[in-house]
Amino acid sequence: MMSKRMAAETYDPRYYVENFDHRKYAEQFYGAGQWNLEQIASSASGFCMKAVNKFISECEKGGGRFLDIATGACLANLMPAATKFDHIYCAEFSPAAREELEKWKAGEPDALDWTTYFKYAANLDGQAENWKAYEALLHKAWVSILPCDLTKDDPFAPEKLAPVDVITESFLLCSIVKDVGDLTDAIRRMAQYLKKGGALILSECVNASFYQVGGRTLYLCNLSEQDYVQALKNNGMEGIEIARASDVNLREDQEFSNIGDDIVVKAVKT
Ligand SMILES: C[S@@+](CC[C@H](N)C(=O)[O-])C[C@H]1O[C@@H](n2cnc3c(N)ncnc32)[C@H](O)[C@@H]1O
Repeated sequence: MMSKRMAAETYDPRYYVENFDHRKYAEQFYGAGQWNLEQIASSASGFCMKAVNKFISECEKGGGRFLDIATGACLANLMPAATKFDHIYCAEFSPAAREELEKWKAGEPDALDWTTYFKYAANLDGQAENWKAYEALLHKAWVSILPCDLTKDDPFAPEKLAPVDVITESFLLCSIVKDVGDLTDAIRRMAQYLKKGGALILSECVNASFYQVGGRTLYLCNLSEQDYVQALKNNGMEGIEIARASDVNLREDQEFSNIGDDIVVKAVKT
């Protein structure tokens, strides 16, 4: 276990644009191309993917359009969506991350290896033998990768996006907001792209103040489960359901952060 370091004091957008190592992040927190199925299943990322998969399956309007915001270089939220949505969009702030996503989308040989995650996604649906179909479906449904700055009121400017049925995000909000008021604003900006009755699914951390990538300490906002619930309610969202990692048996995972717990929260736009 790492020693607890001084937290980074604020969100630094320039670092995400200029220096953030998205491949390293995907290896550290997802074990992309490295972990086996058991390691994924017992990890925080495996927990989040399982909960996202369950919430997506329950969504009433599961046939149409899906958006993941701040995807990074990580396909984990897109995989559960691949079998359920005809049109998949993602959005990301960092040009380097968008490049990594484009590489996978174009089938380039040096793209990150998400094979074992596709197998895990197929396993979650009892479709272990069909994992290659998940990959093919994602290639077919994935429409575009939009530039995005969620600190702006028009985050995809100059692009426009018509409202979608389900939006996911993971570990974006805790990385950029400074308090519950800011969190409320960020959720409002995301929810403007959601159809009425559509679901917002947040994978987030609680009781954390930093994480590390490649030795650099990065800011996390110290938020509680109640803070996320409050910010969703401040936006008039209802039907809130929560899955919490500490309710299941996960291996100890504090090598690169002081994250207290991971939660996945679903809320419906009214
Ligand atoms: C902790 S990473 C999470 C990546 C991925 N969603 C995951 O599940 O691991 C935070 C992501 O937020 C992106 N990001 C940083 N500032 C942002 C902003 N202002 N608007 C949108 N995304 C931003 C970063 O480029 C990075 O990909």
